[in-house]
Amino acid sequence: LSDKPLAGRRILITAGPTREAVDPVRYVSNHSSGRMGFAIAQAALRLGAEAELVHGPVSLPPVLGAQMTAVTCAEKMQAACLALWPRCDAAVMTAAVADFRPESAPTSKIKKQPGQERMTLELTRNPDILAAVCAARRPGQVVMGFAAETDDLLANAQAKLARKGCDLLAANDVSDTRIGFGSERNRITLLAPGAEPQAWPEMDKETLAEKLLLALAQRWDAA
Ligand code: PMT
Repeated sequence: LSDKPLAGRRILITAGPTREAVDPVRYVSNHSSGRMGFAIAQAALRLGAEAELVHGPVSLPPVLGAQMTAVTCAEKMQAACLALWPRCDAAVMTAAVADFRPESAPTSKIKKQPGQERMTLELTRNPDILAAVCAARRPGQVVMGFAAETDDLLANAQAKLARKGCDLLAANDVSDTRIGFGSERNRITLLAPGAEPQAWPEMDKETLAEKLLLALAQRWDAA
């Protein structure tokens, strides 16, 4: 068996959070550290592929050998991904993209008014990058999404798989702090349309990344 089963392939990976501006000094975001996506990029290189790593604001060292594209918000992440996607063979979308962004972000800092006790932030829907990548897919391109759930992991992830249209979906329970955002380990259930869900044991993100990429490679082999 080749030790470089992904040789000649180019993988698009998203990682980390997005940051949605409220004003020049504040933002809406989440706790994603980028570890899962950076581990996928590292594993892709180890398995012989080229890695296009599009990431939000993270404090991780760069993945040497990967093409790194740093973005801040969801709209910029989507633009970067759609520009790279035609040249890639697969996409693995681990980024925790903010589903909503502040409707308008003034260019000056929002000041509180004397006596003001409440403030309302209007949010508007962000683009769904995973769904857009799936919609732009050509034959032979394989797409793996992630699902971050806190309740009803399996039911929610099954619905997400159908809605987004990806080939594989790695569902993880982010209410468990041992394996959730920022941790070094993860435990996923792998879903594919028409297949029984596979509950994998907990493992470090590096080992998991390699196993996920090998599962993805089987999709090309089966095509
Ligand atoms: O970064 P770490 O600290 O290592 O943590 C890893 C992780 C918990 C972030 C990761 O394992 C994970 O679960 N990533 C998906 C996070 C997420 O936002 O999931 P979701 O269920 O909201 O989204 C489902 C899928 O659609 C994901 O592939 C997501 O990247 C994608 N998505 C979501 C919304 C959106 N607007 N655009 C998207 O592309």
